Amino acid sequence: MEPKVRRGDEELLRDEGHLEAAELKRRIAALKKEKNAVIMAHYYQRDEIQEVADYIGDSLALARKAATTDADIIVMCGVHFMGETAKILCPDRKVLIPDPEAGCSLADSCDADEFARFVEAHPGYTVISYVNTSAAVKAHTDIVVTSGNARKIVEQLPQDAKIIFGPDRNLGGYINSVTGRDMLLWDGACHVHDRFSLDKILAMKKEHPGAKILVHPECRKPLQLIADKVGSTAALLAFVSEDDAKEYIVVTESGILFEMRRKCPEKVFLAAPADDAECQCNHCEYMKLNTLQKLYETLRDEAPEITVDPDLAREALKPINRMLEMS
Ligand code: 13P
Ligand code: SF4
Repeated sequence: MEPKVRRGDEELLRDEGHLEAAELKRRIAALKKEKNAVIMAHYYQRDEIQEVADYIGDSLALARKAATTDADIIVMCGVHFMGETAKILCPDRKVLIPDPEAGCSLADSCDADEFARFVEAHPGYTVISYVNTSAAVKAHTDIVVTSGNARKIVEQLPQDAKIIFGPDRNLGGYINSVTGRDMLLWDGACHVHDRFSLDKILAMKKEHPGAKILVHPECRKPLQLIADKVGSTAALLAFVSEDDAKEYIVVTESGILFEMRRKCPEKVFLAAPADDAECQCNHCEYMKLNTLQKLYETLRDEAPEITVDPDLAREALKPINRMLEMS
């Protein structure tokens, strides 16, 4: 019986798929030029989005870039709080996001009203919030931090300062352990980082004894303790560029492997397995909602647009600016 798809057809289908992506990329480049737009992408974005981005970075780098860009349109290929932060920093620019459903389980673990009550119940505390929060939570915050500057910022506060840290309990615990502080932690977590399995990673290490273990501080403490390096996405990337190991077990969202492989093509990067048997590697479903097709349509239609109430934006800007001054 004739096979349904012959070898030649398979190649043709692959080529057509490739052509489609190539055409999307061509159109994106043309629209970007025509509209004076800039495409910013987080390291957890799909490979093809990182390929067309003007800037790729961690949350801190993206906020810094947004604050200084002279583009009329910012397309934030990341999750909602990243677009919101860009809009707060540049209220006069149009900030677009390819998929407005791209949320963040960590930001969702911190309800603004509950957080406000928690802050009110602790007068005299300096309130530090991770950038992975809504604008409403930032408005109840003294200083915003990212995983890339949290330690540096906390260390600038007096040793005896009473500090609330929200919402990530794992990052907060890590900063407590490296600074010797005793910050009061909000009980939130990221569903991707919180589910990595210590046992599976130890088993992987047994099979790859020469591999170094890289861990994002949103992971649980037992993983932080076995890490050769704990750091933000940018810090992990800097580490692999300077380090002399040949192989790494990467315990963070697997989108970062794209930039690691681009930076160090001669090295081997293994995505750490998650605890969930169904899940081969770790994807943030929210980050992956943005696709090349949606990015093209977003630029073409100048929508969906991120908006932030101007009064709320003014309040949320203060702790973001404080972060930029202190980092
Ligand atoms: P980075 O600040 O390290 O880029 O992390 C952002 C994030 O969403 C981690 O899950
Ligand atoms: Fe949020 Fe976690 Fe996704 Fe980062 S990886 S955007 S913290 S849900």
